[in-house]
Amino acid sequence: MFVIDAFCYWKEPMLIQWSEKLAVGIAEIDNQHQRLIALINELSEIEHDQQKEMQAVEKALDELVSYTLYHFGTEERLMEDYVYADEETHLRGHEQFLETITQMVENFSENEAVTAQQIINYLSVWLNQHILRTDKALAAYLLKRGVN
Ligand SMILES: [Fe+2]
Ligand SMILES: [Fe+2]
Repeated sequence: MFVIDAFCYWKEPMLIQWSEKLAVGIAEIDNQHQRLIALINELSEIEHDQQKEMQAVEKALDELVSYTLYHFGTEERLMEDYVYADEETHLRGHEQFLETITQMVENFSENEAVTAQQIINYLSVWLNQHILRTDKALAAYLLKRGVN
């Protein structure tokens, strides 16, 4: 069963902005988070352009999903290499996110039951919460083990 969180339906865009508050202190992860935020913002700019939007949004979503996979791969490799105790919970978070976003992208492509704005809202809120809670906890652990 596909569940979209309530915040997806908020009318106003809830764009995520990079700030020091989101920095986890590990350069590779911070750079990738900044790139993800940039991709979300690029996606939101397309939406204001009414025509020719569908293909452009699909292309931007594709890029975003593949970059997310790449980013999750980086964090998951670090969790493995440094034997992180909370790895399973973190992995589950990534998996659930990918399931939801894949379903949303499919719905968007097939019948527009999901709008680009709902996807952007979901991405922004999820990324913000995930960085602040889950990624920061991982980074704190890695920093203690000399990763920087
Ligand atoms: Fe993560
Ligand atoms: Fe992350």
